[in-house]
Parts: sequence; structure tokens; C-alpha cells
Amino acid sequence: MNATPSNEAFWENHYARTVSSSSSAPLRPNDALVHLLATLDIRRGRALELGAGSGGDAVWLAEQGWQVTAADISATAIAQLGELANALGLSSNLHAVRHDLARSMPSASFDLVYACYLHTPVDIGRPGILRRVSDLMGVGGTLIVVDHASTAPWSWAHPDTRYPAPEQTYATIGLSDDWEPLLLTARERVATGPNGQTATVTDNLIVARRIDDAYAGRATV
Ligand SMILES: C[S@@+](CC[C@H](N)C(=O)[O-])C[C@H]1O[C@@H](n2cnc3c(N)ncnc32)[C@H](O)[C@@H]1O
Repeated sequence: MNATPSNEAFWENHYARTVSSSSSAPLRPNDALVHLLATLDIRRGRALELGAGSGGDAVWLAEQGWQVTAADISATAIAQLGELANALGLSSNLHAVRHDLARSMPSASFDLVYACYLHTPVDIGRPGILRRVSDLMGVGGTLIVVDHASTAPWSWAHPDTRYPAPEQTYATIGLSDDWEPLLLTARERVATGPNGQTATVTDNLIVARRIDDAYAGRATV
């Protein structure tokens, strides 16, 4: 009987295959991220990406002038992204770091924390990760979560997978009263596959802003 691979082994295997098969494919930022940063008033500065993968979003953010920390559990993906940052002359503002976010995360403070498709076949306690990471942002900090609401035919995810609505995801994260939701919505986009094929998919967008950092103080008054 085959044992279920660990989360790390699953993603190492994934990137070992995709890095070798698509190393020449151009990296593109996610359409939802570009849309959100163009339409919402989001303070620029330091960004942390959770589960950065191949790094299309991290590279784009760095090119836009953000100081980016890109975290992922896959050593292969992180090594590849570090090499890419060097090759693109972005090594001063794009730092790729390996973290199993269920166990550790960067300790700096950030203006933006961004998680795009932080979906994985193993339960990593995602709501807790997103709640803990909210502590890395001060007042005015923004949390952006882009989730699947449906997936393309070439995705590793099972096509019958049901994804929670944005309001449900926001409630499950359980941010403190220091936070308010800015946007909880679904949005369609055209996804491009590894061989250039396309499919229309739906994303859930969850955007929240820290409006206060005195919740703990208020609670004891
Ligand atoms: C579905 S992929 C999304 C990758 C990328 N954000 C994108 O939009 O293409 C999920 C990513 O989360 C990473 N990941 C899964 N579990 C993780 C964990 N516990 N800590 C850090 N990264 C994790 C995987 O290695 C993978 O890169």
C-alpha cells in the first residue's frame, strides 16, 4: 500500500517535475493580484507572499518596487526563485526563504501579506497560519487571500472539489476585531496552462485591512 506523501514531499515532487518541464515558460503575475493592486488603496512597502511557488507574483511585486519576502515549503521552488531573482537583478528586493508555514514564518513586519492558492492536499492548519501572520502587520496593513473557487482541467486538484465562499473563509480565519474585511467576492479570469492552453476559472478574493492594533488593550479597559 502506498503511503500518503507528506505535504513537503508532495510539493517537492511537484516542483521537481514542473521546474524541469517549464523552465523556459514566462512567469506571469496572477490577474487577481494585478487587479487588486490597481483598484484598491493599498499601502506600498514590504510584502510577504505565503506559498510563493514558482514566483510569478513575487517577481512582479518586486518589479513594482515592493520589498518582497517569498516563502514556500519547497526547497526546489525557493532555490529556483532565488536564482531567478539574481538573474533579473532583483536580489536586493526579492528574498526567497524556505518555511513550512505550519511551523515557522518570517519574523519581520509587513505592509502586505499575500497568499495565492495556498491550497494543498494535506491539512496544514491554513486558518491558523493566516491568523498568525496577521500579527506581522501593523495598522493599515493588508491581507490578500486569493483562493480557487474552481480550478482548470490541468490542476492537481480534484475537479469535484468544493471551495468555501469568501465570507466563510474570512470567518474561518478568525481575525481579531482589529481587522475589517475590504472585499469578499468571486471573480472570473482566464487561466493559461503549462502548454499554453486556456480555461475560464473563478477565484475567491478575500481582502482585509488592519484598522487598529489596540484590541488587546481595549479588551482589558
Ligand atoms: C497551489 S500552489 C500555489 C503556488 C503559487 N502561489 C501560485 O499561485 O501559483 C501552493 C503552494 O503552497 C506551498 N505550500 C504548501 N504548504 C506549505 C507550507 N506548509 N508552508 C509553506 N508553503 C507551503 C506549495 O509548495 C506551493 O508552492
